[in-house]
Amino acid sequence: MLEVPTKDVKDSLLQYLRCPGCGGGLDLEAAHREGAEIMEGELICRGGDHPPTNRFPITRGIPRFASLDKVASDKAATAASFGWQWTHFTQADERYAEQFLGWIAPVRPEFFKDKVVLEGGCGKGRHTQLAARWGARDVIGIDLSEAVESAFAATRELANAHVVQADIYNLPFPRIFDYAFSVGVLHHLPDPRAGFESLVAKVKPGGHFSVWVYGAENNEWITRWINPLREGLTSRISPRALLHLSKLPTVMLYLATKLIYRPLNHLGNGALAQHLFYNDYLNAISGFGWREQHTIVFDHLVAPTAFYISREEFADWLRETGARNVQISWHNKNSWRGESMKKTKTSKNKKVEMRSEYDFAGKTGVRGKYYQDYRRGHTVRIHKANGTVATQHFTLQEGAVMLEPDVRKFFPNSESVNKALRSLISLIPDKPTRRRATDEGPD
Ligand SMILES: C[S@@+](CC[C@H](N)C(=O)[O-])C[C@H]1O[C@@H](n2cnc3c(N)ncnc32)[C@H](O)[C@@H]1O
Ligand SMILES: [Zn+2]
Repeated sequence: MLEVPTKDVKDSLLQYLRCPGCGGGLDLEAAHREGAEIMEGELICRGGDHPPTNRFPITRGIPRFASLDKVASDKAATAASFGWQWTHFTQADERYAEQFLGWIAPVRPEFFKDKVVLEGGCGKGRHTQLAARWGARDVIGIDLSEAVESAFAATRELANAHVVQADIYNLPFPRIFDYAFSVGVLHHLPDPRAGFESLVAKVKPGGHFSVWVYGAENNEWITRWINPLREGLTSRISPRALLHLSKLPTVMLYLATKLIYRPLNHLGNGALAQHLFYNDYLNAISGFGWREQHTIVFDHLVAPTAFYISREEFADWLRETGARNVQISWHNKNSWRGESMKKTKTSKNKKVEMRSEYDFAGKTGVRGKYYQDYRRGHTVRIHKANGTVATQHFTLQEGAVMLEPDVRKFFPNSESVNKALRSLISLIPDKPTRRRATDEGPD
């Protein structure tokens, strides 16, 4: 008898899911379970009946928050091509771990321990699987395409791995992740930066993220010669036709890497190989066998959309998040990887959040230097976005007392000032309160 593989949602996934429309909680209904596993069912948003939908199906064990027929055609075209790719090239390779670590460096396997992790665009789930094996508390791989079916099959045995069909632009989660990563996805989106921002928005303060994108630098030969071919031909023909057509460049790649790049890189200190065209990248993939190299060639030719991102632009994405500890590095001399930590909201880190022009740490200043100006009042000129300038004059609030610098150092707060003044009051022969009572009382 043919054994039909069962696909399931693990209960622990439900705690992380929210309605992508309104952020509301989701109720599970009509669930068909096997043990703790939810095979089929529906997730219904408690936020009410709102467009476009408040009902999300679970089919073949995967919660579905997006489908190709309901997203914009440019997104759907990319996802459809990759969907075919990842349901065809489902092989596993022992080199995936090392390759993945290259893409997310300096992150190491130990980093995943006990973290709640999100992968944006998980494809066939090879990295979701690794994150789960490396000890993530839970890792959720999302993908828009039918690649989720392969991802699910690759991860279903791992209790801490989950797969969700969703659009990276409209994620069904709150801001709860300790770590989010995305490898080889953002540059295929119609708006890569918006996809990046949407992913990072799900990382909690103090959490980390890693992204890897194609670089503009050193890839001029691709943008000049390969892109027109990809855009005009290979992304337009049927994936099955491309599967066969792509064998030709794969033969050339395979022979070059096995007969030239790999041997020369292993010869002496590899100095000779440094002169070879595109050596870093071709050497990096030279250990892969035919099947994996065919996947790589197919992958480069199938996508209707591919952007090549400059370092400057990439750095701007990361900077705009306000993230700390930004590390950008050049990978295989053809791509950019970025790792960073989202700023925290604790006072400990306030200094870090401060814009440099307001951060006086390490600079020598004179305390109270401006007190005379403050006493007189001060004027602020506000340069507005429309080019106009508004002027505002600030004076000390009525009743406020200004402590001069020599006095101020003895009084850290208002209470210390009041305490000192109360002790002086007893020395005043004719106390103001009494005098006022006398002045204002009936004669
Ligand atoms: C080149 S593959 C990379 C897959 C995986 N990260 C890996 O390295 O094996 C790009 C993936 O992004 C997915 N993708 C494309 N557009 C997407 C979107 N709008 N939302 C989520 N995933 C998307 C594709 O379906 C595909 O699986
Ligand atoms: Zn909702």
